[in-house]
Amino acid sequence: MPYELGPTLLSAERIAARVAELGAAITADYRGKTLFLVCVLKGSTIFWADLCRRIELPTVTDFCAVHCYGDGTDPSGALLLSHDLSLPIAGQEVLIVEDIVDTGRTLHLLRSHLLTRHPASLRICALLDKVERREVPVPLDYVGFAIPNEFVVGYGLDFAQQYRNLPYVATLKAT
Ligand code: IMP
Repeated sequence: MPYELGPTLLSAERIAARVAELGAAITADYRGKTLFLVCVLKGSTIFWADLCRRIELPTVTDFCAVHCYGDGTDPSGALLLSHDLSLPIAGQEVLIVEDIVDTGRTLHLLRSHLLTRHPASLRICALLDKVERREVPVPLDYVGFAIPNEFVVGYGLDFAQQYRNLPYVATLKAT
């Protein structure tokens, strides 16, 4: 089915303002500590790149990826941690940086996995939250925007690996 970009949901300016607020809140909450950021590939890279520059603390970053079997649109597909962290997190103040929470399955898997490594703390910062779609509860400590149940692209989010470079978030609609 062909798709095209729909209306802009979040402008670049709105995103930048909210990312600055998130960075300030995180800076205040972790003052005096070193923060270990876990960037979830690939969709969170642009959010992480902007957010980490708004956090006025010493930070360490590592990357991981969760692979969903199937065509990527089926939320019931099996999940696998396809790229693990390269650094230990035991005793670290860990913040997962995620682009979007949909069913919650990805973050549930990742969070359970990371907790077995005994971080000092483990919190989650998600740019977008599709609240209506949640199947598995996950504690979200920082959320950029709650959004409606629509497929969105841009600011790191893709459809078939495209659209990640859009500086704003837009809906995708079937034509
Ligand atoms: P969850 O496991 O169902 O919460 O899905 C999380 C993952 O699904 C995200 O990290 C995205 O990769 C992908 N995803 C969910 N909704 C969207 C969307 O609207 N646009 C692009 N990717 C999405």
